[in-house]
Amino acid sequence: MLTREDVLAAAEAIAAEYNSADSTAAFRDIVVKEGQVAMTVVGISEAAQPSFEAALRQALAERGVEKVHCRFRTSEGQTPAAGSTQQSQGGAASGNPVQGHGAGLEEHPLLRAGSGVQFIAIASGKGGVGKSTVTVNLAVALARKGKRVGIIDADIYGFSVPDMMGIDERPEVVNERVIPIKKFGVSVMSMGFFVEDNAPIVWRGPMLGKMLRNFFAEIEWGELDYLLLDLPPGTGDVAMDVHQIIPQSKEIIVTTPHATAAFVAARAGAMAIKTEHEIIGVIENMSYYVCSKCGEPEYIFGRGGGGKLAESLNTEMLAQIPLGQPDNHPSEPDFSPSVYKAQHPIGQIYLEVADKVIASCGV
Ligand SMILES: Nc1ncnc2c1ncn2[C@@H]1O[C@H](COP(=O)(O)OP(=O)(O)OP(=O)(O)O)[C@@H](O)[C@H]1O
Ligand SMILES: [Mg+2]
Repeated sequence: MLTREDVLAAAEAIAAEYNSADSTAAFRDIVVKEGQVAMTVVGISEAAQPSFEAALRQALAERGVEKVHCRFRTSEGQTPAAGSTQQSQGGAASGNPVQGHGAGLEEHPLLRAGSGVQFIAIASGKGGVGKSTVTVNLAVALARKGKRVGIIDADIYGFSVPDMMGIDERPEVVNERVIPIKKFGVSVMSMGFFVEDNAPIVWRGPMLGKMLRNFFAEIEWGELDYLLLDLPPGTGDVAMDVHQIIPQSKEIIVTTPHATAAFVAARAGAMAIKTEHEIIGVIENMSYYVCSKCGEPEYIFGRGGGGKLAESLNTEMLAQIPLGQPDNHPSEPDFSPSVYKAQHPIGQIYLEVADKVIASCGV
């Protein structure tokens, strides 16, 4: 299997060839994932960047790599050159405690080392297992525990957080900065706020990373204890971008109890391990249905997937959340389709998960 060392060796060989006048080329934040490689390249002259990237892509294609993302920086600690190739979300130099951040974000109050903000990405292998539901309800539960909480709806194409939380308004811009919408005590930012009439998003890969960066650079978050990121399903570009911009992010993996779902979720877990993101735990969602007649749990989606996944990732199962809708009604003043009330049995489970997360993060 291709390793980071293999990629480094290939990159160094090509840099020597393409950039021989400049011996300072360096490679940071190398992430190797099935068929994809992302890295920050420092010290390759602007003119040589396209040919370097093409050569690296060609060299790695021979090793089965389908996609190569290079973020170029002209020198250590500098922002990427304007107009540098495609994914120019940048990365900081090695030795910097916050390495991997996008250019200009190193000193962002939330991202800088020692900010104390706990970043938690909610990931899964498969779609539709309840990541967004978990993100929203865990965020609200943490806020109910008195924490200052934000959500980044990082599912740029498939945003759902505003709708799930019942947010209709659009953010205000003050002093050229966007103010997140606050609902249930949680500050929310989503692509959905900037899309008219639920129009489809047609941006391509590079724009996703840019958008994610903008969710930091241009947003007035204020002070936060927790920032939760609702990821799109799978282990694609956005997961890589999260690693680049927030290498300190922790993760919670969501799965359903079915063995196959847990098997697929294990890939998201493996990605977290590869990118050295601490896994706080696994949440098994849609674990069972409590029969309304006899009160017994019915394991309609199978059993054991979450436990097995937690074991294989050497982490804890934070909760088994049953099937059940929030008892909310559109006529209520603070209506939301997906947020369970604190006293709802599932709302109670989320409060317990919040306690575990607080204990795990120590904030
Ligand atoms: N415990 C639950 N009980 C009942 N319905 C649930 C539960 N959890 C999630 N759902 C419902 O399942 C659907 C999928 O959930 P959700 O959108 O949170 O999943 P997701 O993993 O974010 O999906 P995607 O991959 O599409 O982003 C939603 O309609 C949601 O309301
Ligand atoms: Mg979702």
